[in-house]
Amino acid sequence: MRVCIIGTGYVGLTMGACLADIGHDVVCVDIDGSKITSLCNGVIPVHEPGLSKIVEKNYKRNTLSFSMDVGEGVSESDIVFIAVGTPFNEKSVDLSHVESAAKGIAKGINKYTIIANKSTVPVGSAELVKRIILENMVYPHKFDVVSNPEFLREGSAVKDFLNPDRIIIGTDSQKAAEIMTELYRPLKAPILITDQISAEIIKYACNAFLATKVSFINFIANLCDAVGANVKDVATGMGYDKRISFEFLKAGPGWGGSCLPKDCKTFIKIAEDCGYEFNLLKEVLKVNEDQKRLVVVKIRQLLGDLKDKCIGILGLSFKPNTDDVREAPAIDIINHLQTECALVKAYDPAAMENAGRILKGVEFATNAYEVAKDSDMLVLLTEWDEFRWLDFERIKSLLKKPIIFDTRNCLDSQLLTEFGFVYTGIGVKGISLEKIQRPETSLFMEAQGLEGESLI
Ligand code: UGA
Repeated sequence: MRVCIIGTGYVGLTMGACLADIGHDVVCVDIDGSKITSLCNGVIPVHEPGLSKIVEKNYKRNTLSFSMDVGEGVSESDIVFIAVGTPFNEKSVDLSHVESAAKGIAKGINKYTIIANKSTVPVGSAELVKRIILENMVYPHKFDVVSNPEFLREGSAVKDFLNPDRIIIGTDSQKAAEIMTELYRPLKAPILITDQISAEIIKYACNAFLATKVSFINFIANLCDAVGANVKDVATGMGYDKRISFEFLKAGPGWGGSCLPKDCKTFIKIAEDCGYEFNLLKEVLKVNEDQKRLVVVKIRQLLGDLKDKCIGILGLSFKPNTDDVREAPAIDIINHLQTECALVKAYDPAAMENAGRILKGVEFATNAYEVAKDSDMLVLLTEWDEFRWLDFERIKSLLKKPIIFDTRNCLDSQLLTEFGFVYTGIGVKGISLEKIQRPETSLFMEAQGLEGESLI
């Protein structure tokens, strides 16, 4: 099929490259000329594993192209995706990019076209897009607006897009449902066809639920700290229950990113507009804010007064394998440390350029060892793989004090303690459950992608 994607952010670009890869003819359109020029020259604007390879491959074989011309992209396509940003501005979602995309689409429609909304938008946005297109159409043609939320994650976007758990198609048009089903057929995923509003709600409900899960385990982690239990074992014990599952039960410094925080706030607003107080989700956000504060409190407990203490930070992105620092816990935590007059030295494998645009007065290092040199302690804030395999004897010799605060519980606490570090994590200071060898466990962990974790 011929597909046009408006917006070349990590969602638009990933889906464009992946749809081209599964056999469609795709044009990715963006109003940002420098982005389009870079893409045509093989420069990918985001750090996303596997993306540049798949873009390059499909660009070379002419199944993927880039353009600034919305009208042309639309007129030559059967399906047009809107994949533009929908930032949360103070009290509501800013739909201006969606609106201008819809106006552009309206001018290019020259036959029956499906307009599929990939951007996460509040309830009723499909209707809004439909109205804008009707008002701005040059030549009247039939079209259908479909709500088709995306569930890929940054850092594993390509893998997630090509192996979705499900595909949601929100439409009341049989024709549109059939064409969309055909588009996704190569992905061999379950397809749920529903109405537009339910599809829009599904997206928010998923992100809100994931945020709730992480806030829940973070709260349990703090409880574990208080009673002397180990949250990793608690999460494992919970995760074996298939109704709960292992996913999103990793305690940490709080959840961030461009989606979960924004979508939770929007979902609260959606409920509010219907006369409901979404108190549960409000509490989920509050637990998340508290979690970031708690990291600072723990650092203070370890070092005392933070004035002029040098804190070495490992990891700035909101999670590993991305250069995205939007709403990253690291940004908030560093700002707090600085308000207490601490000096901050930091390193991240991919996110320092983006972090540098937001953070002031931080010394950026070229590697973890440079961060450790003369720092009073190390705080690991993002669980990049390379931090697991550091030469910790060398790290210890460089630090002023051998203190490590592993806010992602990803390092080998036993080994570090043997090396003479004061190790602390989130909810793991207590006594771990007795380690029981069960042959099937390692296989199970491998299947869950949990190898190397300290489980039973
Ligand atoms: C999230 C959803 O997971 C995707 O399904 C969705 O498509 C996407 O938002 C979106 O709406 O575009 P993403 O923002 O890439 O994806 O990040 P997640 O993997 O969900 O992680 C969010 C935050 O939760 C990160 O800060 C991460 O470190 C934290 N987290 C996650 C934990 O602290 N513990 C966990 O167990 C899992």
